[in-house]
Amino acid sequence: MVSSVFVVGNWKMNGSISRAEEFCQGLRRFELDLAEQVEIALCVPDTLLAAFSASEDVRVGAQNISEYDSGAYTGEISADLLMEQGCDLVIVGHSERRQLFAESSEQVANKAAQALRHGLTPIVCVGETEQQREQGRTFEVVGEQIQAVQRELKAGDIEKIWLAYEPVWAIGTGKTAQPEQAQEVHSWIRAQLGKAGVKIPLLYGGSVKAANADQLFQQKDINGGLIGGASLDLNEFQSICKIASALTKPKG
Ligand code: 13P
Repeated sequence: MVSSVFVVGNWKMNGSISRAEEFCQGLRRFELDLAEQVEIALCVPDTLLAAFSASEDVRVGAQNISEYDSGAYTGEISADLLMEQGCDLVIVGHSERRQLFAESSEQVANKAAQALRHGLTPIVCVGETEQQREQGRTFEVVGEQIQAVQRELKAGDIEKIWLAYEPVWAIGTGKTAQPEQAQEVHSWIRAQLGKAGVKIPLLYGGSVKAANADQLFQQKDINGGLIGGASLDLNEFQSICKIASALTKPKG
């Protein structure tokens, strides 16, 4: 059972050092009165990682990693270099990397394996396009993305990843998946993961904001969110953290 609620921001190619400092100040858990089981993380551009390294309240992650240890790979960043900045999470296989930078499922799986070898937790993103959903291919597409990771990782390592289901048609469009629609895919993913499925945090991503987080996070197989646009607004992100916290408290 995954008992925490995960609130993970993805700043994409946005932000600044001053905004990072503002978020470090504004996300102090005791000031927000957050339950212990809320995990807050921000995946930021590499140049902002260090600004979060002193924070005890926010885990910090990168948005991409090289498959290789070091060498002649101009413009790439290695696991060791990320860790030196205090990073302990990394997004791999975001749909923007798959689509705009032609990353294959094999490459994404190699990146997840590379992250784990160096002690970083990979947040593996999967999801179908609108056209694939309309063609009834959601489970085929998401299944292929997950199987590539299952093939690449050593037995026992799969349970160390986090997974984010991000339907491509819901990213940056304001068109959130209905909670039941997201839950349907999440419960299917959990089943595909077999024994590891009960241990892996499954995050939903795609137009999550304070107005819809409660309904989404209440779903049985949704353990939190991977949040793009709304994670750049401190008030909005604080509200989502508080919503997550309320869900961890005993009801009634
Ligand atoms: P939005 O929340 O802006 O739709 O982005 C989602 C996302 O891509 C998070 O990784």
